[in-house]
Amino acid sequence: KMQGNIAIDGPAGAGKSTVARLLAARLGYLYIDTGAMYRALTWKALGLGIDLEDSRRLVELAEGTSIRLEDRGEGGIAVYCDGEEVTRAIRRSEVSRYVSIVAGVPGVRQYLVKLQRKMAASNRVVMDGRDIGTLVLPGAPYKFFLTASLAERARRRYQELLASGQQADLETIMEEIRQRDARDSQREVAPLKPAPDAIIIDTSQMSVEDVVARIMSLIAVAG
Ligand code: C5P
Repeated sequence: KMQGNIAIDGPAGAGKSTVARLLAARLGYLYIDTGAMYRALTWKALGLGIDLEDSRRLVELAEGTSIRLEDRGEGGIAVYCDGEEVTRAIRRSEVSRYVSIVAGVPGVRQYLVKLQRKMAASNRVVMDGRDIGTLVLPGAPYKFFLTASLAERARRRYQELLASGQQADLETIMEEIRQRDARDSQREVAPLKPAPDAIIIDTSQMSVEDVVARIMSLIAVAG
């Protein structure tokens, strides 16, 4: 009865990836983290010292890059860029700082969106990102838009970083998220916004388990 792709969009730190990963594991669907794809490309561009203002060069780079996602169930996703595992590297703050610039390049998006649709063509998927419900999978029967207050989203990122043994500064994280959201929402191509038929869930006061349970029940009702 529950079938069909699930699109999850929202701003940075709203809990999309954790929720998407758990949903996918529970439903036996493939989890696709599209943010990881933009991050992998940004990681490669930074490593090569490419000028991020040079859109032509970034599109060429995208077209010559192999990005692979390996779903490890509840363990998350492993990310490979040209065969090299970059799962952790793409979470570095330098990548977070620049990724929305790379993601603002229309040709880069075109290329990655094509890849994302191909991944969804042969699997049932839970896909998370910024433009999944609006652009990548507009026909998905289940669309969710997760949000939370900026303070709460920054606090979660901060805790995540500390838990993984990294240094973090709450003010810096809040500013970084604020800037990234602004760029993602204001760009010309596929800006961050809920699809007209998306269900909006404010997760500020909800645990991860609450959000997963809410979505599971909404899916069951929609049947
Ligand atoms: O999801 P995550 O925060 O890892 O995404 C990193 C960045 O990648 C976003 O801030 C956004 O600039 C870009 N992105 C996007 N479209 C998507 C997924 C991510 O533009 N579908």
